Amino acid sequence: MKRIAVLVSGGGTNLQALIDAQGRGEIINGSIAAVVSSSPDAYALERAEKAGIPGYVIDRRDYSSNRAMTAALVDKLRQLDIQLVVLAGFMTILTEEMVRAFPNAILNIHPALIPSFAGPGCYGLHVHEKALAYGVKLSGATVHFVSPECDGGPIVLQKAVEVLPDDTPEVLQRRIMEQCEWKLLPQAVSLFCQDRLKVEGRAVRILDCL
Ligand code: GAR
Repeated sequence: MKRIAVLVSGGGTNLQALIDAQGRGEIINGSIAAVVSSSPDAYALERAEKAGIPGYVIDRRDYSSNRAMTAALVDKLRQLDIQLVVLAGFMTILTEEMVRAFPNAILNIHPALIPSFAGPGCYGLHVHEKALAYGVKLSGATVHFVSPECDGGPIVLQKAVEVLPDDTPEVLQRRIMEQCEWKLLPQAVSLFCQDRLKVEGRAVRILDCL
């Protein structure tokens, strides 16, 4: 059974999707062992508590730099014997020490079809504001492995939805969460825990069940 840590910063609806999927037995060979929040006020911590999952806070404001915060996070994840790190609405950019500590073992959910609307400054509602301002007809979500380049690692799963004429950023965000994010993230986590994701350069091959 792989031990999973979910890193959060806010509401935690993606964490909830993982908790619910785990409750339905859909996270095969994996178990959520910890939730780590970058903020003590994140509602995600309450979701963790309700589900009986230990919650920890590593607050960016307690550290002088992203590098120092990343080092503290790596220490905590090692102490907890974590094998898969999931960034589920985690809003601090981690430094390369994190990727070195967990090579091809960190998954991130991004609310757009990477490489569109990705990279520094593209997070949360801003992503949907940018997509609407650009006038795209499709958007969606991407689960990818985390590499040193922000939002640049190998893509595991993607799903698209239509952008509708009267969409606001909030309406588009909700559609992408419901139809894409909350489905893709548990699927990707379960595939990882079954050792079914094989990284080949930039591509990720999904292996059949044994
Ligand atoms: C989600 O839409 C997630 O994809 C996005 O933040 C939201 C967090 O919501 N992540 C990013 O923008 C990362 N670049 P949640 O806390 O309800 O899961």
